[in-house]
Amino acid sequence: MTTQMKSAQHTWTADYGLYAIFGYPLTHTYSPKMHNEAFKALGLDNYYIDIPIPPHRFSRLVRSLKKSPLSGFNLTVPHKELILKALDVLDPEAKKIGAVNTVLARTVKNGKHPKVRFVGYNTDAYGFREALRRVARFNVRGKSVLVLGAGGAARACVYALAKDGAGRIVVANRTVSKAERLIKHISKSMGLDKKKLTAVSLRGGNLGRLLSDVRLVVNSTSLGLRPADPVPLHLRLLPKRKDILIFDLIYNPSRTKLLLEASKRGYRTLNGLPMLLYQGARSFEIWTGRSAPIHVMRKALKEAGS
Ligand code: ATR
Repeated sequence: MTTQMKSAQHTWTADYGLYAIFGYPLTHTYSPKMHNEAFKALGLDNYYIDIPIPPHRFSRLVRSLKKSPLSGFNLTVPHKELILKALDVLDPEAKKIGAVNTVLARTVKNGKHPKVRFVGYNTDAYGFREALRRVARFNVRGKSVLVLGAGGAARACVYALAKDGAGRIVVANRTVSKAERLIKHISKSMGLDKKKLTAVSLRGGNLGRLLSDVRLVVNSTSLGLRPADPVPLHLRLLPKRKDILIFDLIYNPSRTKLLLEASKRGYRTLNGLPMLLYQGARSFEIWTGRSAPIHVMRKALKEAGS
């Protein structure tokens, strides 16, 4: 835990105990159930709600968010970068990543009028790393990785992969300029050798030749959330090896077309549920200053998915 997180906990005040998740679409989210069960288990009089709001409206709302009664909130697709302009303090790790999925609203005494300050964190990188390590038992050190997508979630994954010593990281995105921006930001903020990261088009013809030594594929695009979505990657482009792991950050549906096809071809698979659990546990700790009841949260997620 960073020093800033510790100090944030000490000054934490929850006026209304109201928490939320902003995103669009939000029909797929299990976060309210996970956090509400966790609050209940610790006897906290808090409540977590989902607020589906499209990006153009969120952009307008973001500056007046401090007038809301929220004590903290999560951001999901596609708001993790939009929120940056509304923050007063950015945790150093979130700054390196360039995306925020957790905000703590800290009330600071300011004469008669308490002032709200927003502190931004990224708990996705932690959730991603824990899911790989604890659930898939996958060690990224020295391995070549393909990351599909270049949004807020991709940033956290690329950061975590680089930090854990992955080999070459290829970022493939529909909008190549966004992938280029991502690798520029992360390689600068982490002081990486530029050759470690490559940006390519998701549908470009040269993707296949970059994949001969890939051992991990991460889908961070939103393709797969809707039943009609195509698979984000043609798996025939990958080497035929049983030790390749396909990690889809989507958890609802629990088996996307990508994961179903990957299983059929004999690859290992992992969905986004464990990442959701561990990022949620870290957010919970930032907001409450208490240890997250991980078993309660895991059970809530299992029930939400059944
Ligand atoms: P998150 O915070 O979950 O990363 P995001 O920042 O909105 O959400 O990023 C969504 C990702 O899914 C982006 O990489 C996006 O590609 P673009 O940068 O080209 O928009 C990708 N994505 C969304 N819809 C897509 C589609 N229909 N085909 C391919 N990629 C798509």
